[in-house]
Amino acid sequence: MMWPRCDQTAAWALLRTAFETSGKSFDLCDAFAADPQRFAHFSQSAPHVFADLSKNLVDTAVEQQLFALARQCGLEQHRDAMFSGALINSTEQRSVMHFLLRNGLAGQFIPAHAAIDKIADLQAEVHAGLDRMLAYAEQVRADDAITDIVNIGIGGSDLGPQMAVLALSEFAIKGKRFHFVSNVDGQELSSVLAQVKPQNTLFLIASKTFATLETMTNAHSARGWFEANDGQDIARHFAALTSNVAAANAFGITTTFGFWDWVGGRYSLWSAIGLPIAMAVGGQGFRALLAGAHAMDEHFRSAVLEHNLPVRLGLLDVWYRNFHGLTSRSIAPYSSALRRLPAYLQQLEMESNGKRVDSRGQTLPFETAPVLWGEPGTNGQHAYFQMLHQGTSVVPVEFVAIKKASHSLPGHHSQLLANALAQAQALMVGKTDSGGHKHFPGNRPSTFLLLDALTPTSLGALLALQEHRVFVSGAIWGINSFDQWGVELGKVLAKNMQVRLVTGDAQGLDGSTAGLLGHICRDQ
Ligand code: F6P
Repeated sequence: MMWPRCDQTAAWALLRTAFETSGKSFDLCDAFAADPQRFAHFSQSAPHVFADLSKNLVDTAVEQQLFALARQCGLEQHRDAMFSGALINSTEQRSVMHFLLRNGLAGQFIPAHAAIDKIADLQAEVHAGLDRMLAYAEQVRADDAITDIVNIGIGGSDLGPQMAVLALSEFAIKGKRFHFVSNVDGQELSSVLAQVKPQNTLFLIASKTFATLETMTNAHSARGWFEANDGQDIARHFAALTSNVAAANAFGITTTFGFWDWVGGRYSLWSAIGLPIAMAVGGQGFRALLAGAHAMDEHFRSAVLEHNLPVRLGLLDVWYRNFHGLTSRSIAPYSSALRRLPAYLQQLEMESNGKRVDSRGQTLPFETAPVLWGEPGTNGQHAYFQMLHQGTSVVPVEFVAIKKASHSLPGHHSQLLANALAQAQALMVGKTDSGGHKHFPGNRPSTFLLLDALTPTSLGALLALQEHRVFVSGAIWGINSFDQWGVELGKVLAKNMQVRLVTGDAQGLDGSTAGLLGHICRDQ
């Protein structure tokens, strides 16, 4: 069935009217005064995550209309299509089944998944791959001679594992260091190589395609360094995490961990790409991460829209982007361990939904993905929160806080939590001052996500929540959230430019690029 484009639904028109009549003058403090139950209405528990949505510029009537919009756009059917293995990544003719990587771990199969052809075979293959990968992780964990694990990968083959290894550092094995090399800037690899010895190092070459320029360049240099420094036994010191095992073999790597084309790069930390995480936290920890994500999958798959947290978050994103016209969202994890979360979410949201055409290639007449950005709290408070409180643009802030600290230093955690709560409060209530400079307009929206503790399970749930909320806004906008054609042009031009850097040939280039090329080549 063809679903109408979101801006052609009745709900969209009603939302437009609601925005004009009351939405744009909505006042959060008035809303709390008018509805003593507002917190209860706009907060909810989902697996391992408690969410307070009550400080958002939305009332029950608008939220109801957003649910109507979701239904009129076929959100539930699109979600079910993903869970049934349909080829929803239409431009690449692929299923989108990262949820399968975390399914059936307790032996049960989810009935809706039975629609996938040969589901049992596929799931058995997934579990066999997981068992093999976790056995290898345990083997490396027990190997005292391996002290350094160097993950070479970029994008989804770097951001997820790096973010999760940092987030779970309290659970990580002692005596092993984890390094992440992504940039083609040789500075990054050479500074890691200066700290490690060939006989004590395991290189993980993480690349779904095994063709990405940065990763291949770093992988070749790492192997060159290994051989030049009397490194012995590539099979022991290099492993590849890839869906292109043949290319890894051709590179000379025989220890390989594969995965499937239905796992998108930015959704791949649950696959073999998660090996550094498994090496850090162990097989049990990795299974707990998967279990947390699976619990959120089940919530997203089965909860009614009105109590479905990814749906509520994704719809708020649409409300802010398309009706309030807000251009960005700031991520504020009040947890130093989650300091790479904003970078990870940037790829998740902006590579998934940063598109100007729908899944049939038709140009969209409305805005799609916002800019995502952020730093951990409290650091951000001393940098850009000034603008969040008093700047000319309204930026919804997403706070992530952890109830229970992972350390025992007295006093710190209550200060951290106090600051998170106070910032959300200040954004909303503001402060009246006739002096101008000291006036805070308030009424600035935020969402507050609260985890009991930062554990593999809660992290898994938090990340799956984010994956699904991105799915929701993408589905409403009618775009294919699972391709990334926008990164291709730059890759092609860079290849051409590399030749020009050698020859100095500027023919056919635009004036600026030719001028820059001239400047670079002049002194070489
Ligand atoms: O930047 C484009 C992209 O394809 C991302 O989607 C992906 O995560 C990254 O490059 C790395 O790709 P690969 O794992 O194939 O090296």
